[in-house]
Amino acid sequence: MLFYFSATGITKKWAHLIADRIGEPVLDIETELKKDNPEYALKDDERIGFMCPVYFGDVPEIVRQFVEKIHVRTGEQYYCYIAMTYGSDSFYAPNRFMHLLLRHGLTTSAVFGIRGIDTFLPMFTIPTGSKRAQIEERAGVEAAFVAEQIFDRTVTTHLKRAPFPWLTTACMTPVYAMMKNTRNFHVSESCTGCGLCERNCPVHAIKLDPANQQPQWVLSKCMLCMRCLHNCPAEAIDYGRSTVGKLRYRVIDG
Ligand SMILES: Cc1cc2nc3c(=O)[nH]c(=O)nc-3n(C[C@H](O)[C@H](O)[C@H](O)COP(=O)(O)O)c2cc1C
Repeated sequence: MLFYFSATGITKKWAHLIADRIGEPVLDIETELKKDNPEYALKDDERIGFMCPVYFGDVPEIVRQFVEKIHVRTGEQYYCYIAMTYGSDSFYAPNRFMHLLLRHGLTTSAVFGIRGIDTFLPMFTIPTGSKRAQIEERAGVEAAFVAEQIFDRTVTTHLKRAPFPWLTTACMTPVYAMMKNTRNFHVSESCTGCGLCERNCPVHAIKLDPANQQPQWVLSKCMLCMRCLHNCPAEAIDYGRSTVGKLRYRVIDG
């Protein structure tokens, strides 16, 4: 059983690849979170996995909420793995994830990182052409390697990180809190009021203004996941001035 959260599709793609390889079900955390009392029982020999992106060197809030809500029944021996996708460095996020699981009775057997494109548009740009192809190809190779490790139930840590990851995460946490100010989001005249951003927001942080059908980021719940911004069909959503004119990211399947 593999649970994943994916805002812009990268983690989803690799979660499906891994689930296919190991022949186990893959479950979307957004859907599972809607259940009142999510309970799961592992079959004999079934693995349990969690996949999500790294957010400012930490675990996305929606994943935290999910782990805090679920009840998992395991046998005495089980293989539990974490695989996090990221753009440059996972920092202390995998450790935070392990601690989170441990607090909820799950001991992690293996932790993996899969490096790919960084979707945090306020700080990065989406590469194009051969650079993008190279990053995606390297990520595909890494994801396939991770899938083999999980298939073999290898007890391991596959992370390439700069020294002192805990320190970087500690420094990034207040930056994230500051950036979560949703007043920075705005829409241009090309917004058609289609409401896709509202329907798709994983944490229901967007409401359309009944007066003009334009999105408003009304809740402090926003994780800055950038799904609204990347997926707006009119490319009408921006975060401050830092994303204006930048290429948006869409996962190309296959
Ligand atoms: C809010 C936010 C914070 C991020 N923080 C980090 C980070 O600390 N380190 C990193 O390497 N990548 C970071 N990223 C990049 C994502 O982890 C990466 O692009 C991920 O693969 C996106 O997965 P998804 O398409 O499944 O949502 C961040 C992205 C977002 C949206």
